[in-house]
Amino acid sequence: MALPHGRDDSVGRNAEPARRFGAEEALALRVAIVTSEAVPFAKSGGLADMVGSLAAALTRRGLDVTLVLPAYRCIVERTDVAATGMAFPVPAADGIERTEILEGVAGKNTPAWFVRADRFFDRPGLYGQDGGDYEDNADRFAWFARAALALLARLGPYDVLHGHDWQTGLAVAYLRLQPERYPALASARTLFTVHNVGYQGLFDAGVFPSLQVDAAHYWPNFEFYGNVSYLKAGLTLADRLTTVSPTYAEEIGTPEQGYGLHGVFSERADDLVGIMNGADYAVWDPATDSFIARRYSAADPAGKHDCKRDLQQRLGLPPADAPLAGMVARLVDQKGLDILAGALDALLSRDLQIAVLGTGDPHHEQALSGFARRHPDRMAVRIGFDEALAHAVEAGSDLFLMPSRYEPSGLNQLYSLRYGTIPVVRATGGLKDSVKPFDEAAGEGTGFLFEDYASAALVQAVDRALDCYRRPAAWRRLMANAMAQDFSVDRTAAEYAALYASLLDRAD
Ligand code: ADP
Ligand code: GLC
Repeated sequence: MALPHGRDDSVGRNAEPARRFGAEEALALRVAIVTSEAVPFAKSGGLADMVGSLAAALTRRGLDVTLVLPAYRCIVERTDVAATGMAFPVPAADGIERTEILEGVAGKNTPAWFVRADRFFDRPGLYGQDGGDYEDNADRFAWFARAALALLARLGPYDVLHGHDWQTGLAVAYLRLQPERYPALASARTLFTVHNVGYQGLFDAGVFPSLQVDAAHYWPNFEFYGNVSYLKAGLTLADRLTTVSPTYAEEIGTPEQGYGLHGVFSERADDLVGIMNGADYAVWDPATDSFIARRYSAADPAGKHDCKRDLQQRLGLPPADAPLAGMVARLVDQKGLDILAGALDALLSRDLQIAVLGTGDPHHEQALSGFARRHPDRMAVRIGFDEALAHAVEAGSDLFLMPSRYEPSGLNQLYSLRYGTIPVVRATGGLKDSVKPFDEAAGEGTGFLFEDYASAALVQAVDRALDCYRRPAAWRRLMANAMAQDFSVDRTAAEYAALYASLLDRAD
């Protein structure tokens, strides 16, 4: 059958001798990105936005990029994903699981391939459901790693294999430890990006034999306090590491933020770089956003008021002129929900409306919903994953709350800046790198930051924002500063392209 991007799947590209790259030749780089999420195919959070938009931006730069994901149910059901007829056996923990290969296109013309095994991926969730993880995640993502490499070895060669987070730690590890199984990839260099050290892919040590890795690698590469860590495998075996902001790259080398892996990060400090994520302004820009009630821009901001009324109406909030603070997040501890809960009584006593969209831990969902029930004229909470509403919250809010305990990069504050929705954020990770404190006298800065991980500090930061909101000229200046920021994913892609090129130039 005709494939969406016109590539003949039955013929692997001919192997070429390993090449060395100069700056101009970087355009020819062949990069295989292995990931558990990428827009538009599968998303639970910013990982999907970042990987999908990075792949598309790299393709725009002229790199030859290929994406590989698991064929989740939500992907198999898409009408723009087609079977290729390609199929082959892949080892699983308990025998052989045959994979069928599907394909589609990410962005305008980035080929995306999906490895299908319904036993593992024909489920409602990506990693779990009803608030819990799937019990066989160790097997699911070990199989995914092998299937992805087996597929890429048929499609290859590639210059770089780029994995993301614990779900692909084993892809990077297997390529290093068992290169003879993937001859067409043998010369590929590996890059592993950690988006969030709080998620490590930790499994009972009993899974180790099923990984079929030489026991000599258990202690140095897999063992983490008596468990097996897929994240550690990727971190210790990749040629080079990145994380998603410069500040987070420093933070994870400390005992407070390294989640037990600070030693590994310190050892690999020379191979680790923090590259700030970027926003896909083709998707996140109020001047073109098709999800919002009325488009607006820095030059013509009037439509933002309509977006606010629309949001209030959608959420059943009164059409008040009080400032509206929005939040869109996975409802997990990382996002600072405990200090938010501790701040809400004070915040709801201010002249302020609050709108929250999120899904995650049931206790956070219930706590937030409880506040909304008690203050229906002030606070609205929607539990669920709703892309359209996420855009409406960005466009219709005046402030955007991110009181994160830690935040490797954060994308929502980048979107907020573009929507003139002023971020109130904790000074951590990528939030600190992208939001600059507003200095009214100098007319500089883009938001409000606080240091202490404490409810009182959050309330103080919101109070500073509310104080500024009462002075229209100052607020207009702040909005203009925010909307003028450029955190485009194209910048991020330029940094990754340079890194890929340097990876190939590096002496062995
Ligand atoms: P994280 O990756 O830690 O979740 P980011 O700020 O990097 O945080 O990215 C979050 C992304 O996920 C944004 O695109 C945001 O709009 C989206 N998102 C999170 N929760 C929801 C939800 N309940 N509905 C729709 N989009 C959501
Ligand atoms: C993670 C982080 C978030 C980051 C995203 C994409 O989910 O929590 O801060 O923006 O990955 O890199």
